[in-house]
Amino acid sequence: MIYISKIMHFSASHRIYNPKFTDAENTRIFKQCANPNGHGHNFILEVVVCGEPNPDTGYVIDLKELKCIIQSEVIDLVDHKNLNIDVPALQNVLPTSENLVVFFWQLLADKIPSGKLYKIKLSESEHSSVEYYGEK
Ligand code: NI
Repeated sequence: MIYISKIMHFSASHRIYNPKFTDAENTRIFKQCANPNGHGHNFILEVVVCGEPNPDTGYVIDLKELKCIIQSEVIDLVDHKNLNIDVPALQNVLPTSENLVVFFWQLLADKIPSGKLYKIKLSESEHSSVEYYGEK
């Protein structure tokens, strides 16, 4: 089994705020992430596909093709957007990285033409990231 990875970037803003909580509770739980006007990240998105290389091409998946799929399915949807407001599918979702990787998985899993989606990793900074391997 071969694991092939594509890393892409997008910039987006969000506010981590649960309307079920009071303002004071939101501030206690989410701290500055709950600031009323949100904040931004330069996200790093890694998508890993696994499979056996095609004997004729030597590829698990053509990385240029994978890049185009990530661009059209994910990046175009979220880049330079306010994730709380501009992405209809996230309207009732707290746009944490945890929830974003699950959302991105749903967008990508059926679109991979060869091999299988194995992992999605999302980093808000060089110091923190989340990884998702799909439903187990
Ligand atoms: Ni944030």
